[in-house]
Amino acid sequence: MSEWDSVADRVNFNLKISTDDFVASVPLESKILDFGCGYGRITKQILELGYREVVGIDSSKEMVSRGLSECPELDLRYLSAEVLPFSDGEFDSIVLCAVLTCIPEQSYRENILSELHRVLKPQGIIYLAEFCSDQSLHFVSGTGVSMWHSSKAEFEALLTNFNIESSTLVDNSTMSGHKSKAIHIIARKVI
Ligand SMILES: C[S@@+](CC[C@H](N)C(=O)[O-])C[C@H]1O[C@@H](n2cnc3c(N)ncnc32)[C@H](O)[C@@H]1O
Repeated sequence: MSEWDSVADRVNFNLKISTDDFVASVPLESKILDFGCGYGRITKQILELGYREVVGIDSSKEMVSRGLSECPELDLRYLSAEVLPFSDGEFDSIVLCAVLTCIPEQSYRENILSELHRVLKPQGIIYLAEFCSDQSLHFVSGTGVSMWHSSKAEFEALLTNFNIESSTLVDNSTMSGHKSKAIHIIARKVI
């Protein structure tokens, strides 16, 4: 069971992606993976931008179930596996919004990035939007979930085998309304 299951019906995520930057880097005919899609908020937003093939996956059964009941038209899948059931290079682009933020172990983050690198096409774009802190910050959120707001350098260091095309800090308050920063990174798979 995921620690997100028990809060799936009462959280409303608020971290934004930069849709202008995303559209400028990812062609409309791309097949996109929304990794850690939650209840499909970003999956839906990407479809509304005009993309047609967007798959959302999440390790919380209850998040996916909420998403499918609110938006049955979305392709949201519950997946708890460490190895993704997708072929090498299956996706043109992968999006993570506030996902690494709630993965507090470095080795687990690295494993995820390595698996995402495998399922991304050569030259494909990975887009990260994550809460970011000047000083790396581990804490438990108001909803009881373990969080890690990493520094800009820590996020960038995770993207070995990608070429970082842009890395931008913006203001974005947390779900509980605290002032915070977010990082938006666009990186391309190079090898
Ligand atoms: C803060 S929520 C963000 C949800 C969504 N991306 C959004 O911004 O609306 C983080 C999500 O990541 C999911 N998650 C965490 N670890 C995961 C993993 N290893 N595989 C898939 N999903 C994961 C959680 O279940 C949760 O739904």
